[in-house]
Amino acid sequence: MIWTLTRALPSDWDRAWAIQHDAFLDDVTRTYGGWTPAGIEKCKNAWAPHSTQMLHVDGDLAGWIRLEHRADCDWLDLLVVAAGHQRKGVGTSVLRSLMSDADRRGVPLWLSVHRSNDARQLYARLGFREMDRDELRVFMVHPASTSSPPPSIAQR
Ligand SMILES: CC(C)(COP(=O)(O)OP(=O)(O)OC[C@H]1O[C@@H](n2cnc3c(N)ncnc32)[C@H](O)[C@@H]1OP(=O)(O)O)[C@@H](O)C(=O)NCCC(=O)NCCS
Repeated sequence: MIWTLTRALPSDWDRAWAIQHDAFLDDVTRTYGGWTPAGIEKCKNAWAPHSTQMLHVDGDLAGWIRLEHRADCDWLDLLVVAAGHQRKGVGTSVLRSLMSDADRRGVPLWLSVHRSNDARQLYARLGFREMDRDELRVFMVHPASTSSPPPSIAQR
C-alpha cells in the first residue's frame, strides 16, 4: 500500500464532503440522530483548503486530513478515511507519520474525538493520552519526545 497526502484545492470540497458524509454517518447518527442541515453547514464552513490534505491510497482518493501547525502543537482537526478503505491500516500509518512530523518539530500532536467514537481505541493504542473532555468530545495528545505545555482551552 502506497499513500500520499497532497495539498487540497478549493474545488475538492464536493469529493471531500462525500467522503466525510459517509464515513461519519454512524457516529453522527449515534450522537445527533443523523446529519442535520446545521451540521452540514458547519462542515462546509469549516472547509479550509489551506490546512487540508487529500489522502490517496494506491492512486485512489481515500480520505483527507485537516491539520494546523501551531506554535506550540500540531492540531489534527480532522482525519477521515473513506468507508471502503477503512480497517486496512491506512489511518494507523497516516497517524504514525503525523506523530513523527510533530516530533521532529518538537511539538505534541493534539486531536479531539467524539466520546462515542471507536477511533478513541485506535488513538490510545498509538500512545495518545486523554487530557480533557467536554460534553461531546475527548481531547487527546501524543506528547513530543521533548515535553512542552498544552495549548490553552481557548485555542482549541
Ligand atoms: C477512525 C479512522 C480514521 C481509522 O482509520 P482506519 O484506516 O480505518 O484505521 P486502521 O485500519 O489503521 O485501524 C483500525 C482501527 O481503527 C478503529 N476504527 C476502524 N474503523 C473505524 C470506524 N469506522 N470508526 C471508528 N473507528 C474505527 C478501530 O480501533 C480499528 O481497530 P480494529 O479494526 O481492531 O477494531 C477511520 O476508520 C475513519 O475515518 N472513520 C470514520 C471517521 C472518524 O471517526 N474519524 C475520526 C474522527 S476523530
